Amino acid sequence: MKVERTLSIIKPNAVAKNVIGEIFNKFEVSGFKIIGIKMMRLNKKQTENFYHQHQDKFFFIDLILFMISGPIVVSVLERKNAVRYYRELMGATDPKKAIKGTLRAEYGDDYTANALHGSDSIKSAIFEIDYFFRSDELS
Ligand code: CMP
Repeated sequence: MKVERTLSIIKPNAVAKNVIGEIFNKFEVSGFKIIGIKMMRLNKKQTENFYHQHQDKFFFIDLILFMISGPIVVSVLERKNAVRYYRELMGATDPKKAIKGTLRAEYGDDYTANALHGSDSIKSAIFEIDYFFRSDELS
């Protein structure tokens, strides 16, 4: 297994629930090292560019409006096979279908407000980490 990095976003609905610390604790007890953290509020253009691969999807506008509705917490997580393990920890995209004990089952509200985003491949992780962090901002 290879040590990898993946990008996590705690979405506005989870930030509003005051569970940032709880979620970070779950990252750590699941074997992830948090090597970069930023809290921010995205604008429309930044969000559209970040989610460019979904620009033709029916849910794109709702996703953008939701992601700019409040602060988010972006972090970079490191461990062996980080992309796959982080997606397992998040659970299914639709919180209603996510297995009990996964983060989206616990903190997600619906498809859009599903509490967390995670990179879906190593290639996406490289793009997404670079989108938010300079290399000298990562420990
Ligand atoms: P995320 O991991 O942030 O990546 C893209 C987001 O699009 C996804 O989580 C969901 O919030 C949203 N999404 C994906 N599929 C659907 C869908 N079928 N209906 C509504 N939103 C979706």
